[in-house]
Amino acid sequence: MLKKKIFIFNKIPDAGLKMLESKYEFSKSPKGVEGILCLLTDKIDSKIMDQAGDQLKVISNYAVGYNNIDVESASKRNIMVTNTPGVLTNTVAEHAIGLILSIAQRIPEADRFVRAGKFKGWEPMLLLGADLRGKTLGIIGMGRIGQSVAKIAQSGFGMEIIYYDKFKNDKYKFAPIKKILKKADFISLHVPLLPSTRHLIGRKELGLMKKTACLINTSRGPVINEKALVKALRKKQIAGAALDVFENEPKLSPGLKKLDNIVLTPHIASASVETRDKMAVMAAQNLIDALEGKKPKNLVN
Ligand code: DGY
Repeated sequence: MLKKKIFIFNKIPDAGLKMLESKYEFSKSPKGVEGILCLLTDKIDSKIMDQAGDQLKVISNYAVGYNNIDVESASKRNIMVTNTPGVLTNTVAEHAIGLILSIAQRIPEADRFVRAGKFKGWEPMLLLGADLRGKTLGIIGMGRIGQSVAKIAQSGFGMEIIYYDKFKNDKYKFAPIKKILKKADFISLHVPLLPSTRHLIGRKELGLMKKTACLINTSRGPVINEKALVKALRKKQIAGAALDVFENEPKLSPGLKKLDNIVLTPHIASASVETRDKMAVMAAQNLIDALEGKKPKNLVN
């Protein structure tokens, strides 16, 4: 029997690839395939769907965020779109916590200091940072990842948690975004990228934050107006920022990497060996289920 054709935009871990290799023929282009497996960096628009053709049944995204896919166009064509929720929750939350610690205790800055041969001995005032205990962490977007960050920060570091989300969460204190901006010492963003969340944090919002506050983003870059952030950090209007995602990835806004009060990581919040394997298995299973006529567990449309 002829194998069904699928197109994989970019290599994913073997754990997922192996599940697909035996079942399907890997096509060299999307043309004529029944399934597509893509990364968050692959823009899947109506052109790609047209190029694939009417037999395309599923677009399986190797990510929980799926703003790279035109879901509306897929739905109109009866194409299933799937993502990889849940398996990366703790890993991303741990990275967000890592960024909070990094910016609060100035760890990357201190590392640069030592490597540059500037460490001449212990000093009472050398590279003073901020404690987390007793500080307020504001979480914008209290989905799975936001909740996981809240749990670690509260139970591990004794932080006070306030959050904003359109869905209420009984365990933590709700606050409107404006209040979070004014009150929190650290603000961590965990919203999906939607028209309503693009530039959610811009000049005005940064202006409401405390001078001592830090902004952390492990969600999607365009949630922050990066140009406004560079200005705010340059003027020391806020104390710092730690970003895993950027407005125009992989490009950085001019001036961003010259700043000392910022920590930058290259969109690796979910990048643990275990989690990337789990994402690969989940993305492969979603695709297999769809092509075998079952409803994939992680259908988004
Ligand atoms: C996702 O899955 O959306 C993450 O950004 C991957 O790191």
